[in-house]
Order: sequence, then structure tokens, then C-alpha cells
Amino acid sequence: MTTLGALYREALAAFRSTGLATPELDARWLVAEAAGSPATAVTLDPDRPLAPDAAERARAYIARRLAGEPVDRILGNREFWSLSFRLGPATLSPRPDTETIVEACLAVLPDKQGAYRLLDLGTGTGAILIALLSERPRARGRGIDKAAEAVKIAALNAEDNGVANRASFSVGDWMKGVDGPFDLVVSNPPYIPSADIAGLDREVREHDPLPALDGGVDGLDAYRAIAADAPRVLAPGGILVFELGIGQEEDVATVMKAAGFDLLGPARKDLGGVARALAGRLA
Ligand SMILES: C[S@@+](CC[C@H](N)C(=O)[O-])C[C@H]1O[C@@H](n2cnc3c(N)ncnc32)[C@H](O)[C@@H]1O
Repeated sequence: MTTLGALYREALAAFRSTGLATPELDARWLVAEAAGSPATAVTLDPDRPLAPDAAERARAYIARRLAGEPVDRILGNREFWSLSFRLGPATLSPRPDTETIVEACLAVLPDKQGAYRLLDLGTGTGAILIALLSERPRARGRGIDKAAEAVKIAALNAEDNGVANRASFSVGDWMKGVDGPFDLVVSNPPYIPSADIAGLDREVREHDPLPALDGGVDGLDAYRAIAADAPRVLAPGGILVFELGIGQEEDVATVMKAAGFDLLGPARKDLGGVARALAGRLA
């Protein structure tokens, strides 16, 4: 019978030989998960024997990783804002950079007990809305996505994270057919220019859904559509917050101003120094 440590070394050698960026971490997560053990067990309890079905599962995970599938896709979940989110083929895997937009939203929802009304457009896993509801226990929110499978997963994620009684999710084309008023509309829309999709990392291109990425010819289609309609559903003085792609601050600022928003300062930067979240108040 093989052991946790032996399988870890097997995975590590294979991942190193193919030049994966984080071979130790990937090997640790995949082997530990397949064994149903905490990741620390790989180093703390390397002689733990693995049942044949767990070893088979670990080898299947290793093969998928070697074929280019990201670890979170293999495991079917991802941590975001210290919460756990299920993933599916129709959901983007929430990125650490997107925590910046959660911070930007919390900064404009300063009352921890505020009964804020929130709308998250292109909700995907529900990551942004669920993170906000976890921080504002009296707020309520609605998440919309055009992908029906994403909406189902977002609802499960709201349940898993204990906010389902304050969240609702539906299929839709941005906010068409939705009535407000909302205090905050937030969106991390698809923002990659169509022509740049082919040049994305293979792991993104092949494993994140195209409708979550493709922002049209100049990457700004969704910003224009959302900014133009948001005033209709926002309460007076309501706030719109967008996640930005790299280099989009000026263009999105122009779109927001043209739609009647006063910017609340320059974009908030992510940990890599990229201008990532832009907020504006309905004038
Ligand atoms: C970049 S992903 C963001 C997902 C999630 N909010 C996050 O931050 O991880 C964009 C999302 O917008 C959705 N989407 C694209 N076009 C849409 C539309 N016209 N109406 C509603 N949702 C749309 C996609 O299905 C995708 O889930």
C-alpha cells in the first residue's frame, strides 16, 4: 500500500518535470484532498497509508493537473474572502484580485449594521455578493448571471456560506427587467478584448468560460451596457462599482461619467498595484 508521502513525492517529481509554477503547493493540495486529509498531513504524517481508491483518485488528479487543468477546477472549489466557493464549468473561478472590489464596496457601505440593498451583475459563483453579505449581516442582495448553471451554483454557495436567507439569484441579461431601488450595483464584468482571448494563459483560456471573459472588440461592452442602465435601478445617491481589467481605468471612468456618475476618487489598486476597482455615485 502506498503512503501519503510517497504519492506526494510522485506528484512533485511529475509537476517539476513539466515546469508547473507551484509544484509543491499543487502536489500537496491534490494528494491531501484525494486522501481526505488536511494539506498539513503530507508533511506531518507522510507514512499514513492510502487506501487503493484514494491512491487511484490522487493519480487521476495528478494526470488532470499534468494535462493543464488548474487545481481549483480539479477540486471543484476555490477560496475567496476566506469563504469556500463551489465551481462549475459555467463559473469563473474567483480571483484574489477580485477581493479588491469587495474592499471597495465595503468602503462605500460603512455601516456594519446597514440594511443595504445590493445588486451583483454577472455574479458567477456569487463570490462578490456572498462576501459582501458575510460582512454586512443586515444587507440583502440579488445576483444575476446569464448562465443558468452559474446561478444554480451561486445559490448553493450562498447556502454553504450561511447567507441564503438574504440572497436571491436569477438568470438575466444584466439588469433587464429588474426594478430597484438598490443602494449599490457591483459588477466584475467580462472585460478582455475579443482579440486578446487567444493569447491568454492556456489554463484560463481552456478552463474559464468564454462568456466570463469576452468583453467585445475593445473590452468595454459590458461597462457601457451596465453603466447606461444602472441609474434606473439605483436609489438616489446610489453607487456603482466596477472591477477593471489592466489599463482600463481611464476608459471606464469616461463611460461612468457619461452615464451620470461622479467618481469617488481614483481606482483602488490590487496587491499587484493594478488599478482594479472604480466606484462612482449617481449624480
Ligand atoms: C468575469 S465573470 C465574474 C464572475 C464573478 N462575479 C466573479 O467576480 O468571480 C463575468 C460574469 O458575467 C456573466 N455575464 C456575461 N454576460 C452577461 C450578461 N449579458 N448578463 C448577465 N451576466 C453576464 C458571465 O456569465 C460571468 O459569470
